[in-house]
Amino acid sequence: MQLSGKTILISGSGSGLGAATAQRLLAQGANVVGLDLAADPAWVPVWNGPENWQGRYMHAQADVTQESSVQHVVQEGVAKFGRLSGVVCCAGILHGERVLGPSGLASLDAFRRVIDVNLVGTIQVVRAAVQAIAQGEPQEPDQEQGVVVMTSSIAAFDGQIGQCAYSASKGAIAAMTLPMAREFARFGIRVVSIAPGVFQTPMMQAASQKVRGPLLDASVFPKRFGLPEEFASMVQSVLENSMLNGTIIRLDGAMRM
Ligand SMILES: NC(=O)c1ccc[n+]([C@@H]2O[C@H](COP(=O)([O-])OP(=O)(O)OC[C@H]3O[C@@H](n4cnc5c(N)ncnc54)[C@H](O)[C@@H]3O)[C@@H](O)[C@H]2O)c1
Repeated sequence: MQLSGKTILISGSGSGLGAATAQRLLAQGANVVGLDLAADPAWVPVWNGPENWQGRYMHAQADVTQESSVQHVVQEGVAKFGRLSGVVCCAGILHGERVLGPSGLASLDAFRRVIDVNLVGTIQVVRAAVQAIAQGEPQEPDQEQGVVVMTSSIAAFDGQIGQCAYSASKGAIAAMTLPMAREFARFGIRVVSIAPGVFQTPMMQAASQKVRGPLLDASVFPKRFGLPEEFASMVQSVLENSMLNGTIIRLDGAMRM
């Protein structure tokens, strides 16, 4: 897919990986529909992007767990930019809790909340977006109509103690990737998930040094956490490279937690 002039929906565009992706795609000439719980993403007033980017960015405050809000954002985005060609799901939350911890059993409400935001929220955004993408015009040379990019995590495969809920949500995103790719092929829509290692975003910066130290030790090369721009660059590659489909890309510098 050529990005210039295409419209991409990004959930979680207010912060971290989603914010970096929004900026990267805008810089490539795409239109971006940003969706986040945040009303006014902090990067928007200060980002020094290409001259005409403000006219190509639409922000919507919405909760990915609310079906009608998500549908509404997609409809608004299509009304503003004409058609939708892709979706990048970055909205998510982190939660750590032992199933049987020192102070008792883990909260089932917290487990449900993580599944609701990370997993149900992702499918909610994907289904609304795909309905809009499927109404577009197939593009030469492959009759491609669009691309779905979901954010899994290496916790889908290497989950640590306390990550049952988070790993379950991210493992399910990884597991949905191939069936979705098979299903959406008839619309000319590819589906890829990215499984990041540890990236320097507000989500990770909120973790204590006790959590971050051993994670840094587990990184192989480069010996550092990933930068949000490196995630955004991978999203761009996924959108542009038509042979990437039905797969989960680990983006982790060989980290095995
Ligand atoms: N940072 C990492 O190391 C890392 C590693 C692997 C996977 N991930 C995943 O990448 C994604 C982005 O994480 P990040 O590090 O950029 O985190 P972040 O906290 O910086 O950004 C997440 C964004 O999602 C938004 N959000 C949360 N719940 C929402 C909801 N219900 N509806 C709409 N928006 C909501 C937040 O407002 C925030 O702007 C998440 O799914 C996370 O699980 C992150």
